[in-house]
Amino acid sequence: MKTLIKGGTIITASETIQADVLINEEKIQRLGQDIIEPDALVIDATNKLVLPGGVDVHTHFSLPMAGTISSDDHYTGHKAAAFGGTTTAIDFISLDRETLDECVDEWHKIADPLAAIDYSAHMNITRFDDRIASQIPGLIKRGITTLKVFTAYNNRLRLQDGEIFKVMRIAKNAGMLTMMHAENGDVIEILIDEAIRSGNLSPVWHARTRPAWGATEAVLRGSSLAAQAGAPLYIVHMNAAGEVDQLEYARKMGLPIMGETCPQYLFFTEDNLAQIDGAKWICSPPMRSAKDNARLWEGLKNGIIKVMATDHCPFFFDGTKPIKYEEENIAIPGKELGKTDFTKIPNGLPGVGDRMPVLWTNAVNSGRMTPNHFVEINCTNPAKIFGLYPQKGTIMPGSDADIAIWDPEKNVTYGIGLSHHRTDYNLYEGWHLKGFPEKVFSRGKLIVDGETWLGKKGDGRFIHRKPFAEIL
Ligand code: URP
Ligand code: ZN
Ligand code: ZN
Repeated sequence: MKTLIKGGTIITASETIQADVLINEEKIQRLGQDIIEPDALVIDATNKLVLPGGVDVHTHFSLPMAGTISSDDHYTGHKAAAFGGTTTAIDFISLDRETLDECVDEWHKIADPLAAIDYSAHMNITRFDDRIASQIPGLIKRGITTLKVFTAYNNRLRLQDGEIFKVMRIAKNAGMLTMMHAENGDVIEILIDEAIRSGNLSPVWHARTRPAWGATEAVLRGSSLAAQAGAPLYIVHMNAAGEVDQLEYARKMGLPIMGETCPQYLFFTEDNLAQIDGAKWICSPPMRSAKDNARLWEGLKNGIIKVMATDHCPFFFDGTKPIKYEEENIAIPGKELGKTDFTKIPNGLPGVGDRMPVLWTNAVNSGRMTPNHFVEINCTNPAKIFGLYPQKGTIMPGSDADIAIWDPEKNVTYGIGLSHHRTDYNLYEGWHLKGFPEKVFSRGKLIVDGETWLGKKGDGRFIHRKPFAEIL
């Protein structure tokens, strides 16, 4: 089966080319001017842009938390991703069994039958001893080359500095990349305890008990540990100006330290948590200030921050009221669990489908970023850093035919009706967006056609990633 995308403008991280794209089965076969292929299905892309499918390296589907579970599973989350132009998602595996292999097996059991786009996984290292240490390199034969460590969530997910240092050394020797959640767990514990004792239980206290200085300090700490381990490091969900400063410093010192941010940290502040519906904005790390938003934009512009991800981890705002999802009534306990106590609100928010449309308008149309830079941070850099390139993240002969045909003139009023997340709210409700995915292909198969969903559970393929991926 061949498909010919005709007359569009191809946008890659480095080039803008007026050319046709010939897809043969799952792969891009050829780019060229006026390709004629009599037996191909022709898709007219005149006046449209042809983008690589997005790669979101930070999602949490069906993540158990605070007595409930994130409300998108690997099917609904993949579907939402696809409607937003994203065709590869990397999730996190919890270390909640005896061995890493058991954790990976369990995660596959849940993810594989549901996956609708291509996918992979990082391993959370939230417990460390000699047995775990010896099992880490074995993840590579399972296609998992990235590990996440935490400097927060004491007594739950956090490792001590020495343990993080050891993980980094093992990772480096095996060609793996360590990812870090950077906050100061000790200070957070004290501030939460004080807030509870003072009766400060409204959502804004979530932000007030997780100070930006803790994140700033933890980025420098992580960079220093990585330097001493001789290892690369990737800072996830960067949210604070000071973090960008520390990352810039580490990179100036020649260290292989990289970072991602997420759209929510560019647009929202602690003030959103002070609203009546502030729980919608609760995630960790929290929203900061307008100054932090501005420094993150600057970090993107200057190339200090290499990747845009989402940290997609949605919960219902009111999980007592069902929504209609694919003709079914669905209600999953959510943020209402912490109605009277912010510490009981599940942390996380929707975003996997929002990332590319929201940023196109607010980064490309606003002149903050070229279309090529947009592709670089949403598609190409994540694919390179996470060992998926050039199979994913670009449009070239031999790459998977993961493609978003983008209509740069399409105006929409965005929100829950267009985002397809399985939850009851959208952070960008009512935002006017110009530029939207029109058709999305996953390995040559059309899975989104306007408002029509053509994808299927189980069609997504687990991508075995290779070690020693690029350091950018
Ligand atoms: O609030 C968030 N981000 N929940 C997901 C877990 C994490 O630390 O990324
Ligand atoms: Zn995190
Ligand atoms: Zn996360």
